[in-house]
Amino acid sequence: MSYVLGLDLGTGSIKGLLLNEAGELIATATKDYPLSTPQPGFSEQDPHDWLAGARSVLRDLGKKVADLQENLAGISFSGQMHSLVLLDADQEVIRPAILWNDVRTTKQCQEIMKKAGEKVLAETKNIALEGFTLPKLLWVQENEPENFAKAQTFVLPKDYLGYWFTGNLQMEYSDAAGTLLLDVTKRKWDLELAELFNLPAELFPPLVESQGFIGTVREELAQELGIANTVKVFAGGADNACAALGAGIVSENIGLASIGTSGVFLAYEGEKEQNYGGKLHYFNHVLPKSYYSMGVTLAAGQSLTWFKQTMAPTESFDEFLAGVAEIPVGSLGLLFTPYIMGERTPHIDSQIRASFIGVDARHTRAHFNRAVLEGITYSLKDAQNLMTQAGKKFNQVVSVGGGAKNPTWLQMQADIFDCEIVTLQVEQGPGLGAAMLAALGLGWFATPQACVATFVSYGKTYQPISENVKRYQDYYGLYQKVYGATKELSHALLKLEK
Ligand code: XUL
Repeated sequence: MSYVLGLDLGTGSIKGLLLNEAGELIATATKDYPLSTPQPGFSEQDPHDWLAGARSVLRDLGKKVADLQENLAGISFSGQMHSLVLLDADQEVIRPAILWNDVRTTKQCQEIMKKAGEKVLAETKNIALEGFTLPKLLWVQENEPENFAKAQTFVLPKDYLGYWFTGNLQMEYSDAAGTLLLDVTKRKWDLELAELFNLPAELFPPLVESQGFIGTVREELAQELGIANTVKVFAGGADNACAALGAGIVSENIGLASIGTSGVFLAYEGEKEQNYGGKLHYFNHVLPKSYYSMGVTLAAGQSLTWFKQTMAPTESFDEFLAGVAEIPVGSLGLLFTPYIMGERTPHIDSQIRASFIGVDARHTRAHFNRAVLEGITYSLKDAQNLMTQAGKKFNQVVSVGGGAKNPTWLQMQADIFDCEIVTLQVEQGPGLGAAMLAALGLGWFATPQACVATFVSYGKTYQPISENVKRYQDYYGLYQKVYGATKELSHALLKLEK
């Protein structure tokens, strides 16, 4: 049977997933790489480390799978979004990549919104945030004019990997959408916007579909990696879009709740244009002509990890959360807002900080633990709310990541989202979506739905319990007021720290 390889170029590592035509997992391999923080708020990576990582993953897969050379038919990618890779006239990397979680660009974001806020929102469907690529380009233009002058083109991490494999340079739509330079609905570079910010049109690489064929593996690289030079390479997609494809989010009314370090609530938007006024991210999906919307909680799993590390550093998560099921809905009046790193959706406030409200002498550690889980879930509910207010209805939410590992938290999600929750039988992350893009590109399936039916298997479901749903509606109503009530205090406290 033929194989497809999904390579997920993440922030901490690159992961390879090899699957066969029946959607069965054949082998995996991972290689970590470092992240550098040359100054507070800076976050950079050397793109050569990604290539070394890909080499190592292919080598490991070759060792594990005897018929890799014979049967590998296609490769595709999923990648960390927004991170800027600048290339010179010889397509050499000019400076380390500036990553999505780098926050040096607050000034550039303010300038973008001041100069062209309305145009940016109308055409790119998003507002300027530190993580996005346009502010990073402007930072280099302003602070490193010598590097900017050398720049011939820019790409995003997984597009750079695609270039390394094939020798062909392009950017794919779901990632281009996260640059803040794509006219998202017209599906072309917004060259007027580029001109407003003095970015030359030559800088912009050609655009391709996510399942678009971008070339075969370069001869000498194929030899080095021990794969055939006939292996077809397909463009791939942004990690969140690939995670959505890998969770089967290819039709209306299904949402995705993903709790990693950060948390994401994501919905498939089909072909219709939605206007969230920049409150949610709105990007091109990896399926032709379709979109997805997404809200981000900056510290979702991170809030729980922080709390566990602070209260019980030696306990496992299972031990730490053991008593949570016995605590009543609403944690006996204890509310937590997970703003330990500031917040993106819906408040977009880097200076808001977390709080526990309603602390009372009856509360035990288990009440605090449950309140943390509830607060993280309310925060994702904020994104779901923006979607339902715009007319969206959810029949089902697929839960992945940390939130899917604990049955009490899964039931809580059903009760707070007021929706059936379903888990995945085996979680493989965005790399699965990437492998599926290769399968679609190779023409193995007539529709994305058929591809999902073969590659995605669902596990347990959880139904909302109406009594809990009602109680959570009341608590969530109060949770929504905490931001406004603590904003000024949070900002003032931060000022005292300076
Ligand atoms: C999305 C975002 C992150 C990265 C992580 O806007 O910044 O989810 O894609 O890789």
